[in-house]
Amino acid sequence: MYVVRTGAACKCRVALNGVRRYSRGMSATENAPPAAALPILIVPNPVLRKTSRAVTPADAAAVRALLPKMFATMYKAPGIGLAAPQVGKLLRVVVMDLQPDKVPAPMVLINPEIIAASEEKATREEGCLSLPDQYADVTRPAWVKVRYQDEAGAKQEIEGEGLLAACLQHEIDHLNGVLFIDYLSALKRNILLRKLAKDQKERAKK
Ligand code: NI
Repeated sequence: MYVVRTGAACKCRVALNGVRRYSRGMSATENAPPAAALPILIVPNPVLRKTSRAVTPADAAAVRALLPKMFATMYKAPGIGLAAPQVGKLLRVVVMDLQPDKVPAPMVLINPEIIAASEEKATREEGCLSLPDQYADVTRPAWVKVRYQDEAGAKQEIEGEGLLAACLQHEIDHLNGVLFIDYLSALKRNILLRKLAKDQKERAKK
């Protein structure tokens, strides 16, 4: 899950529109109820460290059922990206919605792979709903090109820089059991993980 710290309240409202719009596109009937959000796995859940397997044609029905739930989970959080392992499904499936100009733009990436990356790096603050309320600067290639299949199974490519590049890399990392904290120094990572554990303990008390 990729989250942006600023403007969360506003995004939430836009996101809900996105759920409805997406539901209409995906459902057999106009009045189908929106999909329920799934629980998000939190670090140190070991599932988050596993490598997800490629989606095959045999997974079509399962993926079709999973996608609306993943969007509902992402929009509810709210976040701008979610990888299937974060909801306990070890499949190479990512949903994203960067909401350019605050307009919903849901994207499905199945079996995504980075096929090109710039040598130039960029640093950007990242967060992840599997590490709630924890943020850190992460340095990654500034530009990437990704090949993937859309929900109809058609081969697609997307390339970009800025937030799009960071989000693509962050979500594809999840499919390989990699988290943004892996890019931090051991010192920074440990501070963040201790803070997360403390926050989670306090949350459990409430
Ligand atoms: Ni994440």
